[in-house]
Amino acid sequence: MTASPRSGGERPTPTILGVGAAVPSQLITNADLVARLDTSDEWIVRRTGIRERRHLRETETLAEIAAAACTDAIIDAGCSAAGVDHLIVATITPDRLTPGLAPAVAARIGAPSAGVLDINAACCGFLYGLDQAAALIESGRARSVLVCGAEALSRITDHEDRATAVLFGDGAGAVLVGPGARGRGIGSFVFGYDDTLADTLYAEREGPRLRMAGQQVYRHAVHRMTEAAQEVLAANGVSAEEVDYFVAHQANARIVSAVADALGVPHEKVSFNVEWTANTSAASIPLALAAAQREGHLQPGSLVAMVAFGAGFVWAAGLAAWKDNMTETTRSS
Ligand SMILES: CC(C)(COP(=O)(O)OP(=O)(O)OC[C@H]1O[C@@H](n2cnc3c(N)ncnc32)[C@H](O)[C@@H]1OP(=O)(O)O)[C@@H](O)C(=O)NCCC(=O)NCCS
Repeated sequence: MTASPRSGGERPTPTILGVGAAVPSQLITNADLVARLDTSDEWIVRRTGIRERRHLRETETLAEIAAAACTDAIIDAGCSAAGVDHLIVATITPDRLTPGLAPAVAARIGAPSAGVLDINAACCGFLYGLDQAAALIESGRARSVLVCGAEALSRITDHEDRATAVLFGDGAGAVLVGPGARGRGIGSFVFGYDDTLADTLYAEREGPRLRMAGQQVYRHAVHRMTEAAQEVLAANGVSAEEVDYFVAHQANARIVSAVADALGVPHEKVSFNVEWTANTSAASIPLALAAAQREGHLQPGSLVAMVAFGAGFVWAAGLAAWKDNMTETTRSS
């Protein structure tokens, strides 16, 4: 059962306790696309930075992949699935129109008393989920919240359209959020939207296929993510130099690079995970966080800035001290 609101005393500091990732087994390389589309590995790498992506097989479900990512995050946190109070799944491609993914994922991981909720904020969904999780922990209404970004964009990709077919992939990433022992934890977020540009990037309900005015999306993505990142740093009283690692929505390496350059963040502190995943919408940031931890870019206390942009248009940015539940003793040992 979910904890009741705290009546007083010090508010818990919400903290990312663990991270996990999972991708489908079917690997689609640029060479696979070149074999059936009028494109080239050189064009795809130069314009997008993407080398490969994963696609769900007909027999696979997104719930399975999302559950694997969630289990991975719980193990990384050293916690138990049974203690999860809420599971928030950000996705635009659930296995069915309804029910959402969250109940199937919660059942698979063994979280029988979790509140289960899907949210759709396109490529910003994970950051919205993380903000909600932080609020639940901070208020004392929950002590353990899983946030999962999961997508099967291959299901809504026009595989005959070379301009978009090369861009998208499938996968899932998750973080477990709980109260931290000390430190900064998950800071404040900023959000924004511009509905006048909704027709620039969308998929219709019937026979859904992603349609996109690539160059317009590109320009707005760079502008909005740069602005949102600057706003969130200012809101948290942090300078760009103090950021240890920077994860922008993994849509295109050129976009990520342009945003990092505008912020003055050196590329060695920046995730370019898009190379291996392509654009996985709501899954892109948690997949990049998991890769960053695996590759040693994130240590307990590392300050990580996250920013996303997607269909809507919507944009979001947040700041978190990585696994800030560690004590000074744990950290220095
Ligand atoms: C999609 C994107 C990579 C295209 O790159 P671009 O430099 O803008 O390319 P353009 O769309 O202007 O197309 C340039 C040429 O390449 C061609 N082209 C498009 N896709 C191609 C492909 N896969 N292979 C080879 N040529 C391709 C176009 O047909 C065009 O040819 P033309 O000049 O003969 O008309 C780029 O616009 C982009 O990344 N946009 C943002 C996408 C995104 O991140 N969306 C999700 C945000 S959440």
